[in-house]
Amino acid sequence: MKILVTGAAGFIGSHLCEFLVKRGDEVVGIDNFDPFYSREEKERNLLGLSSDPGFTFIEEDILGLRSNQSIKEYKVDLVVHLAAKAGVLPSIKDPKAYQKTNIDGTFEVLEFMREEGIKKLVFGSSSSVYGNCPEAPFREDMRVSEPISPYALTKATNEMMTYNHYHLYGIDSVNLRFFTVIGPRQRPDLAIHKFFRMIRDGEPITIYGDGSSARDYTFVEDIISGILAAIDLVKEKESFYEIINLGNHRPIPLSRMIEVIEEISELPVKKVSMPFQAGDVDITNADISKARKLLGYDPKTPFEEGVNTFYNWFRSNPD
Ligand SMILES: NC(=O)c1ccc[n+]([C@@H]2O[C@H](COP(=O)([O-])OP(=O)(O)OC[C@H]3O[C@@H](n4cnc5c(N)ncnc54)[C@H](O)[C@@H]3O)[C@@H](O)[C@H]2O)c1
Repeated sequence: MKILVTGAAGFIGSHLCEFLVKRGDEVVGIDNFDPFYSREEKERNLLGLSSDPGFTFIEEDILGLRSNQSIKEYKVDLVVHLAAKAGVLPSIKDPKAYQKTNIDGTFEVLEFMREEGIKKLVFGSSSSVYGNCPEAPFREDMRVSEPISPYALTKATNEMMTYNHYHLYGIDSVNLRFFTVIGPRQRPDLAIHKFFRMIRDGEPITIYGDGSSARDYTFVEDIISGILAAIDLVKEKESFYEIINLGNHRPIPLSRMIEVIEEISELPVKKVSMPFQAGDVDITNADISKARKLLGYDPKTPFEEGVNTFYNWFRSNPD
């Protein structure tokens, strides 16, 4: 199968491309090396793919997808759309940029698919759409119409956009709501990566709130297993639209996350406390029964093991 992966040089995208070519799919990856974090880091993410004949990389912005002739010539069968401006707190500082990439950009991806007759989509949504849902674990049928950050707003809007293209133009899609993904190559802005870097550099880490906020950390290979299963599902189905959580169903409090980092790094951790930040949610916790049922999804990696695997990668990849 020929698959276009947007955001291929990113954390999740680069892992996905590796797994896809390993199982024999032909992959065209695109990325514009958005400056949210360094180009060098993203180029390093692609190193394992550079000599693989099943992988082609094209530097392109999703906003320019429809006018890129060489991408059209690949005649892909399915798109996995992961390119986005990610991150909750930066979206509060620059909402316009999130609007442009995530909303206008996703519109361009959907229109590219419509114009090229590509009928199958897997979209990378986010647990952020749940905001401060009063009830946890979060189920896909809960109301997500009260986004508490511009990033969450764009992802919730994207899910409606994919529905619209499904309803009107027959583009089948699976929207996967990822819950905080951890593992090698994790984005440098995300807490675990950031904390290890600060601890290594002898800097204090900032704790927002009292340490009780919790995240349903999910190991990247578990997320990839869910994406691969979603690709296989949407490929087989006719007239299909679903939203599915990919999480771990095991929220870890911030205080425990820091304990694990302290144990693994064996370094002293200096902490600075700050009030909880607007836009951040108290807890994320995925109900994964739908993913288990539809995708056979079964996350296997305990949090501690995921952090340890990240740390081994981090030590062998100095900035
Ligand atoms: N990492 C997580 O914990 C997490 C959680 C929920 C959802 N997600 C979603 O999963 C997807 C991948 O996230 P990630 O953590 O790998 O982020 P990432 O930033 O590492 O990867 C995203 C990639 O998209 C590229 N990109 C950005 N704008 C683009 C544009 N206009 N055109 C082409 N490429 C562009 C970036 O250069 C980057 O390489 C994103 O859609 C993100 O919102 C991630």
